[in-house]
This record gives sequence, C-alpha cells and structure tokens, in this order.
Amino acid sequence: MAPRAVVAAAAMAAVLVLALAAPAIAIDFGEEDLASEDALWALYERWRGLHAVARDLGDKARRFNVFRENVRLIHEFNKGDAPYKLRLNRFGDMTADEFRRAYAGSRIAHHRMFRGERKQGAGFRYAGARDLPPSVDWRQKGAVTDVKDQGQCGSCWAFSTIAAVEGINAIKTKNLTSLSEQQLVDCDTTSNAGCNGGLMDYAFQYIAKHGGVAAEDAYPYRARQGKCKKSGAAPAVVTIDGYEDVPANDEQALKKAVAHQPVAVAIEASGSHFQFYSEGVFAGSAARSWTTAWRRWGTA
Ligand SMILES: *[C@@H]1O[C@H](CO)[C@@H](O)[C@H](O)[C@H]1NC(C)=O
Repeated sequence: MAPRAVVAAAAMAAVLVLALAAPAIAIDFGEEDLASEDALWALYERWRGLHAVARDLGDKARRFNVFRENVRLIHEFNKGDAPYKLRLNRFGDMTADEFRRAYAGSRIAHHRMFRGERKQGAGFRYAGARDLPPSVDWRQKGAVTDVKDQGQCGSCWAFSTIAAVEGINAIKTKNLTSLSEQQLVDCDTTSNAGCNGGLMDYAFQYIAKHGGVAAEDAYPYRARQGKCKKSGAAPAVVTIDGYEDVPANDEQALKKAVAHQPVAVAIEASGSHFQFYSEGVFAGSAARSWTTAWRRWGTA
C-alpha cells in the first residue's frame, strides 16, 4: 500500500493568480543583436527557429514589431539592478495582452480571493513563531518539484495548490512526490472551474475531504478539463488535514509562514515582466494591477 502522508496544514496566502509558465528554453542576446534592424531580424529568425513558431507571413512584420519591443524591454530591464531577471523565452513575440488572455486569464472572481476567506476566530498557526531565518529556500531543502508548465489553461489555482501540498508532504515525510494538478482540474468541480480558473481554498478543501490527491505519474497533466478518473485508476497518495489563510496584509505573518513551509501564492501574472520573468525575487514593476496585499508582501 502506498504510504499516506497525513499533513498538518498547507497554509495559503491568497493574493493573485500564479502562472507556472516559466519555460525552460530561452535565448541569450546582447547589445550587438539590437544594433540594427538586420541584426534584430536575424535574432527574430533565430528565436523563431528555436521555438518553432509557425506564423503566416502577413503576420510576420507585425510579430517582428512586437518582438522588437519585447527584446528592448528585456534588455533595458536587465541592465538595472532589480532583484529578478527577464529572459527572451517562447512568449517573445506576444503582446502583454495576448499573453494575459492565453495564459493568465481566469473567469472566476478573483476579488473574492484577494480578500481571503480566513475563518473567523481561528488563530494563525505560526503566530507565536520566533527567531525566523532571514531567508529560506525550500528548493534547497528538497521540498519543491521541478518547474511545471500549465500550458494554455487557467489552472494556476491547481498548480499553486499542488505545489503547497507537495511541499508540506516533503517536509513531513521527507518524500518529495510530484502530485496531480489534473485531478483537481477534472474532479474538483463544485466551486472550481477547471481551465477557467479557481481558488486554492476550495482545492485544499477538496483534497482534505477526498482523502488526498493522486501522483502526477498516475494522473498526468493535459492542460484541458476531462472526465474525473476513478480512484482505482489514480489512487490518492498524499493528503492534508487542513489549510489556513495567512492573515492578509501582514508581512510578518507571511514571513512566519514561509519560514515553516511553502505557501500557495497567487499573483497577477498578466504583466510583461511576468511574461519574461526567469529568475530571482519577482518584485513586479507592473504594479498598477497588483493588489495592495501583494505589494506589501512582495516588496518585503
Ligand atoms: C514516496 O511517496 C510515493 C507516493 O506515495 C511512493 O510511491 C514512493 O515509493 C515513496 N518513496 C519513498 C522513497 O518512500
């Protein structure tokens, strides 16, 4: 029988939508690639070759213009000393608007999530935590699986949920197992809406109520909603006892939470910087669409 991890809690900070769309392949370029139109066209062709983008020729000039703007944005931004870097990835010739519609769209009302749904009267589990480390990298502690790709499906909520469950399970059992986002997309349909969005609160509830979630291998990701597989075909291997929201607008509370376990976070993923984000602490410059809560936490 597969070992079942009974886990104390997967805390969550409800903020915005997280898109785990960071692609592994990216092109490096330098000043010389931006020096002339010819050089930029050559860079565009190199990029098109790498990402096998099929576009009709009528569209190509317009695409090139978008590409050029993006390349300049990335180049200029990386000259600065922000705590994160951008890279030319496969979204190189998409406008921010196209990117948002394709990858960061969600029709579930996010404002509900922004406010949080913390249960009245329940104490915050880590309220009394002292002597917090200045930083913690859960990847180094073996609590984070490799980057996953949500594809063109508004399933950010499922990825955010699963990453937190993988994390707390790894901490409690020392067994890092990749778990199934697809199961949440297909089966957690009471309050969540598959590729049309959802909330982590409901997904945590689903996992706790249904005795856990299946392994990624047993129930792999398809980036579209399908029929819910029976538990015989995809048995639960990891479960949680519960979850709680990190108190909103409280940097110290978030620090206490992340010192103890990975936290499910959703961020506004529709800006150009998130489109090209590659590494570092994302502090997002396109702050217009970010919630107050995120800003206060994100710039801590
Ligand atoms: C880790 O957990 C998974 C899922 O329950 C299980 O299949 C695997 O055998 C475990 N690995 C170890 C080393 O215990």
